[in-house]
Amino acid sequence: MRNPTSFLKKEFEDLVENSLDWKMKQVEGPNQPDSIVDSKKVILLCSNNYLGLSYHAKVKKAAIDAIEKYGAGAGAVRVISGTMDIHVELEKRLASFKNAEASLTFPTGFSVNSGLIPQLVGDEDIIISDELNHGSIIDGVRLSKAERIVYKHNDIEDLSSVISKIDKKSPPYRRILIITDGVFSMDGDIAKLDEIYKVSKDVGAMIYVDDAHGEGVLGEKGKGIVNHFKLDHNKIHVEMGTFSKAFGTVGGHISGSKELINFSWNKCRTLLLSSAPPPSVAASTIAAIDVLEHEPEHVKKLWDNTIYFKRTVKDLGFNTGISETPIIPIIVNESHKAQNFASQLYENGIYVVPIVYPMVAKDKARIRIQINSELTNEHLDYVISKLESLGKKLKII
Ligand SMILES: Cc1ncc(COP(=O)(O)O)c(C=O)c1O
Repeated sequence: MRNPTSFLKKEFEDLVENSLDWKMKQVEGPNQPDSIVDSKKVILLCSNNYLGLSYHAKVKKAAIDAIEKYGAGAGAVRVISGTMDIHVELEKRLASFKNAEASLTFPTGFSVNSGLIPQLVGDEDIIISDELNHGSIIDGVRLSKAERIVYKHNDIEDLSSVISKIDKKSPPYRRILIITDGVFSMDGDIAKLDEIYKVSKDVGAMIYVDDAHGEGVLGEKGKGIVNHFKLDHNKIHVEMGTFSKAFGTVGGHISGSKELINFSWNKCRTLLLSSAPPPSVAASTIAAIDVLEHEPEHVKKLWDNTIYFKRTVKDLGFNTGISETPIIPIIVNESHKAQNFASQLYENGIYVVPIVYPMVAKDKARIRIQINSELTNEHLDYVISKLESLGKKLKII
């Protein structure tokens, strides 16, 4: 007789055999540079908590106070009885932070991309997407009935040629959606959003940027990529992000026109059919916005650390690719070298992850380092000295 679940064991064993299974290490305490990971004291260099806000005193206190006032959960989806005054306050604070008419929050960033993209465009439309966009964008695109075309990574010439081809189509597409990450998560480079706007404005394309790794990092007070390029929401129509990275909490969001927000909360199934975030998360996210607005030292320290670290490792001869941000890959090409480098660094008290195929091209394996504002010069110099000695030992430099 057929065993209905035998594939589970078999497929997992195949992953293990091919070293493609994820090993989940346990972080014992806050996600911070000095961490205990799997019972070992390490410097943690693979965190999205770029500014240490997840354990900032004001952010923690706001969550504790909100639990006392509202309880642990929101109790329903947003459109039934899950919208509490604290969710609305967060959306107002976020809109003001983003210089937008309005903002809307979602359970996660993934649920924004998978829920909104299929609503914005359908079978009379086309999506133009950067080849290195995040998986949640790719899934959102797959869920849409629109045609799709992928342009070469951050290549404005290629994007222009795609636009001029589709502009000649008769009858014309009803809507055109151009979509890009703001900061690319594997290479740390920044989307040329100003140029994307310039080359697409004459065809009336909607522009959608996923700024998950740009918020708290780029722009004045970490407002993000739209602010960084001095653009606005008449030009960049959907500014999407997530609180799960520099804000230190969790939850996806969009900012733009009032029309975008009214449309989105009435259409996106990932908002309509998924429960509201816990009120304590909304409260701690408001506190995180407060910190960004009033304590500019965190973003400044993040950049000081980034500039010092990147310059030093480049001078040692490491290949940091096209990184322009605190995401710094060290490209070693072969997968086994990346895996070996990461495990030897861990043995030496430094936790980074190897990034190998299929996350990056087969010959572009790397370790990925994410710089943090909470790293001290002592942390950075220790990491640099270990990178140098192990890099020499493994013939990477
Ligand atoms: C570029 C990008 N978009 C979206 C997401 C998803 O965000 P969330 O973790 O809030 O679901 C991530 C996080 O991994 C990301 O890196």
